[in-house]
Amino acid sequence: MAHESTYKPSTGIERWLDSRLPIPRLMNDQFMVFPTPRNLNYWWTFGAILTFMLGVQIVTGIVLAMHYQPTTEGAFESVERIMRDVNWGWLLRYAHAVGASMFFLAAFVHTFRGLYYGSYKAPREILWMLGVLILFLMIATAFMGYSLVWGQMSFWAVTVITNLFSSLDSVVPGLGTTLVQWIWGGFSVGEPTLNRLFALHYLFPFVIAGVVILHIWALHIPGSNNPTGVDVKTPSDTLPFHPYYTIKDGFAVVVFCIVFGVLLFYAPNWLGHTDNYIPANPLQTPPHIVPEWYFLPFYAILRAIPDKLFGVIGLMGAIIVLFFIPWLDTSRIRSVSYRPIFKWFFWLFVICCLALGYLGSQAPEGWYLFFGRVFTIYYFAFFLIIMPVVGLIERPKRLPGSITESVLAKHGGAA
Ligand code: HEM
Repeated sequence: MAHESTYKPSTGIERWLDSRLPIPRLMNDQFMVFPTPRNLNYWWTFGAILTFMLGVQIVTGIVLAMHYQPTTEGAFESVERIMRDVNWGWLLRYAHAVGASMFFLAAFVHTFRGLYYGSYKAPREILWMLGVLILFLMIATAFMGYSLVWGQMSFWAVTVITNLFSSLDSVVPGLGTTLVQWIWGGFSVGEPTLNRLFALHYLFPFVIAGVVILHIWALHIPGSNNPTGVDVKTPSDTLPFHPYYTIKDGFAVVVFCIVFGVLLFYAPNWLGHTDNYIPANPLQTPPHIVPEWYFLPFYAILRAIPDKLFGVIGLMGAIIVLFFIPWLDTSRIRSVSYRPIFKWFFWLFVICCLALGYLGSQAPEGWYLFFGRVFTIYYFAFFLIIMPVVGLIERPKRLPGSITESVLAKHGGAA
């Protein structure tokens, strides 16, 4: 939100720096006095939680990389050595693996928060699209990281997912196969594949960090949305970011760390698959190839579609459609709290995503396959039909006149 700079350099060094590289001014204006809606609830703390988790993943990842060996002979053993022989290696590795799950959990909550409160609507379209780009980069990064363990599930996940590109053979004969072999760096998943997966897994988190900076920049132009979806109108609708939201975000990060800690110290393998403790064996396929939990809804969509090429299109489409939400939603107002009809469809969509997650973990046959198809249809219908149509026909509830008015109505006190 455009606001006058309040920064006053008080020492000689501050004045010297301010006319050369004014980082203290930037920090003061953007993270200390920044006017922030006064009614943000705890769903707005997940951005800070995500920033914290990105830091955790980068720090633990760099130290892991100091002990990891990206060769088909050495990879699995080097991970075991980290677990058994490297000082605190077990903690580093579990923090990184459980951390990936916690990172996705936070990203999903953050995304659904945006969906519920209409934070993707004008003027925040670019902010939202950068978020979807981050989600896409997170998916690619997690996939590549999982492959590095070089256990059975790692190896076969890489085989299955890279093979999806071969579906392009049905468009241009030979194109898919050529592309897959180019990705592999050979005629099967092997050492060159592992090497490039490692190189890119190291690179991508820094690309994500760059996009996060753009994401927050794009947030600070219009400022945060809020639970009413009503724009900030007067200064009394806002609070300075510090100390009000620094303390709220800090508290949320601590609570999040307690949940993270419980998983990390008491159930570090709960979300993983036992087969990934078996070294990769190209001659033996595991009985069920299942991805990590955060990919299951997408996996369910892939398998619900009988044709390979269309399955891949469905898989990619499930993410790509998110880029277009700002234009697919025709509602005049932002927050689902004031949308009596759309609210039902929204919660059904949440159930749909959870159901797809469960179905993705089951063998694609019988009722599992049937419901996989039903929920896949609902997933796309939600964005492509329900969002545009309901927005046009629904009559929203009366919005509060301002953020301050809604806060006072709730707490019945003076401003
Ligand atoms: C590494 C991952 C991410 C980081 C570090 C991050 C960081 C942040 C931060 C710090 C904020 C401001 C605080 C808040 O509103 O929670 C924010 C807001 C926002 N983010 Fe993200 N984000 C990430 C991923 C995503 C994703 C995947 C999406 C959606 C697809 C997204 C969409 C948004 C939107 C729409 C807002 C504005 C919310 C509002 O003002 O109502 N972000 N993000």
